Amino acid sequence: MTYKIAVFPGDGIGPEIVREATKVLGCLTSISGIRLELESELIGGAAYEQCGEPLPASSLDLARSADAILLGAVGGPQWESLDYALRPERGLLGLRAELDLFSNLRPAVMHSQLVGASTLKPEVVEGLDILIVRELTGGIYFGRPRGIRVLENGEREGFNTLVYRESQIRRIAHSAFRIAMKRNRRVCSVDKANVLECTELWREVMTSTAREYPEIALSHMYVDNAAMQLVRAPKQFDVIVTTNMFGDILSDCAAMLTGSIGMLPSASLDASAKGMYEPIHGSAPDIAGRERANPLATILSAAMLLRYTLGENEAANLIERAVRDALDSGVRTPDIHSPGMLEVGTAQMGDAVVKAMRKIADSP
Ligand code: IPM
Ligand code: MG
Repeated sequence: MTYKIAVFPGDGIGPEIVREATKVLGCLTSISGIRLELESELIGGAAYEQCGEPLPASSLDLARSADAILLGAVGGPQWESLDYALRPERGLLGLRAELDLFSNLRPAVMHSQLVGASTLKPEVVEGLDILIVRELTGGIYFGRPRGIRVLENGEREGFNTLVYRESQIRRIAHSAFRIAMKRNRRVCSVDKANVLECTELWREVMTSTAREYPEIALSHMYVDNAAMQLVRAPKQFDVIVTTNMFGDILSDCAAMLTGSIGMLPSASLDASAKGMYEPIHGSAPDIAGRERANPLATILSAAMLLRYTLGENEAANLIERAVRDALDSGVRTPDIHSPGMLEVGTAQMGDAVVKAMRKIADSP
């Protein structure tokens, strides 16, 4: 059995970090016998430059035909003035929508070696292991009508629409509850039900769907409070389930608890667990091409790909253990560097993970 993986390096640091993740997958093939066929295509700004659009048909075709997708990052300042439909971000949002990748899993796990790299006190973040389940193909990101219009008095008005159907809420609820059953069975649904009708319905559907999961303890929290609780006492959470935009914001916040946004992977799944895997950080144009990017979020995304879409749990465990061993050996990219550690570049970090994988494979 050969799995076909679509690879989209994208923009900025995307190509550098994806290069390291494919290095790790290459090593996996050589030591495990899992056969992966990687095929790359353009997306985002890189695709716009070559083809005039951020998600060319060839890229979408490849994504559709692959078993799973690995993506780096999209976007950059040179494309910010483009028409909305041509922006790099549309490439990413287009993939999410076209493939119906509605369930976005964003784990925030504190690696014990990096406790010192967090801006929060060690006792607040030590042992942190939370999972944000973000609805990814609905809400204000996709709601219509949207746009900028000119009013009668000549003033311009921007508008977007926050909209969720019951069925959209129900399916992300099931997603969150099922995953929580494999964890600590606590789900906190985050909304703004005190102000927004749309999330009043969200709360209602979450509550009624939870009746099918009697072992799940469901709680509700307003998003402003959730943001505060995440930095005050993040360990109170197990699984957080929330809307597209709240999830976007809260997952950056959760990422920083773990020391660096450069550490966090993500999975975006459809109803049959086919998925796209990407680091939660962006294209970081300011450090692109300078070998300063942390490839671990992308490498850990590749591990999630093996686990969630291919069902290759042992291979996923191997990569995750190799990442821990690499950190134990003291290597650190600049974003997670602390005194006494060895600062390394992007490729050296990838090499350290590969070396750790080989060592694990060679040990009896
Ligand atoms: C993310 C990113 C994207 C989002 C951008 C790049 C469109 O911030 O995946 O969190 O807002 O969803
Ligand atoms: Mg984001």
